[in-house]
Amino acid sequence: MAKQSTIRLITRLADQYQAINLAQGFTDETANFEMVWGAVTASLGGTEEGISRLEEITLEDISQSMAGGTADFLKMSLKDVLKTLQNPKDVFNQYSYPFGLPELRGAIADYTERFAGFRPDPETEITVVVGATEGLFTALKTICDPGDEIIVIQPFHEMYLLQSVTLDLKPVYITLKENPEAGTWNLDRDELEKAINGNTKAFVLNTPHNPTGKVFTRDEMEFIAGLCKKHGVLVITDEIYEHILLTDKRHCSMATIDGMREHTIVVNSISKMGNATGWRVGWVLSPPEYTPTIRGIHDTIVLQAATPLQKGAERLLRLDDGFYADIRKGYIEKLRLLTEALRKAGFIVTSPEATYYLFADYSNVPVISSLPPMEAAMYLIEKMGVASVPGDNFYAVGDFGDRYLRFAFCRSLETLEAGAERLQKIG
Ligand SMILES: Cc1ncc(COP(=O)(O)O)c(C=O)c1O
Repeated sequence: MAKQSTIRLITRLADQYQAINLAQGFTDETANFEMVWGAVTASLGGTEEGISRLEEITLEDISQSMAGGTADFLKMSLKDVLKTLQNPKDVFNQYSYPFGLPELRGAIADYTERFAGFRPDPETEITVVVGATEGLFTALKTICDPGDEIIVIQPFHEMYLLQSVTLDLKPVYITLKENPEAGTWNLDRDELEKAINGNTKAFVLNTPHNPTGKVFTRDEMEFIAGLCKKHGVLVITDEIYEHILLTDKRHCSMATIDGMREHTIVVNSISKMGNATGWRVGWVLSPPEYTPTIRGIHDTIVLQAATPLQKGAERLLRLDDGFYADIRKGYIEKLRLLTEALRKAGFIVTSPEATYYLFADYSNVPVISSLPPMEAAMYLIEKMGVASVPGDNFYAVGDFGDRYLRFAFCRSLETLEAGAERLQKIG
């Protein structure tokens, strides 16, 4: 039986109680303009020629063509002006190749070469999907049959568990252990070695990792890769936070580990890098033998990602290195602000190496310390006006999550300041 998301439930509760939503990982800041413009010109321009026209046209041109250059033009609504620019011919508001526009797959290949150092073939290794969520589901459905074992690291993003339930898979969980003194989350190699065997079909790896903010080291990845190669296990990596790096630690894709390219499926999306979680555009990089099945499943369940939004995504992926280098900068001050606020309120916080989450231990916060996570989260929503995600939502086995709440610091500084102020009143 499929289950609904707790994270999205908390968002609805946050709305109901008018709490500041630091639960679900989306921002209240603008989406990247170049990307938005790409989608707007595709939708309005309709064809490549129409897009070129919109790129070049000036307000003077429009005023001349519409009102003979008279002052009436300035009184017109923007909507009426734009309506005159809509191309009567159209390609980009229609169905396109289910597995993605050729120009977007080309941009994904260039982007991957630029940041990961290998170039997937747009014809045989890239499928554009409806966000990493669909990408992971489609990859799991491609590789696994009902009843198959997969390795999942906990804590995890809830979709790993929810998709396993929907696909009737058997996740075997490996638990990351927090070392608050060292400020690290550690992989237990013995536990992993015991969990993986001939029955394992896939290893689901999320790095940089939500909710701990861990960036798996090359050494850890090589260890995982060694075990996967030994047992013929495919790795599915979710790398959507690859640009949100908060320390000097660098992200490394499993597909770049020696001999792993042909054993790795990479899932990624524009959601976090473009401030565009609602666009639902992502991609799957797969060894060629899996691509036809991935494309078949994708086509069957969703047909395709929205065509004009794919045109916007292409623009985003073609932005220069400076844009990508700057993504992390925006989060440093936000991290400091929310960490300080939570620590002042009594939470124990291990600083994340990446992503925009704080997985905070509330066992020293007097008013909530004795409550189970959902009740602690409800207390914060109802009494403090701040929404977070209960820690047990990130675990399937054991009581490891019972002292955590996850807070997202991807909102604007203004929103975070308001949340921080509310948190100070706790107790
Ligand atoms: C680790 C992880 N993977 C995937 C997703 C969802 O990504 P998308 O919006 O591309 O479906 C999230 C969203 O928060 C996430 O944290």
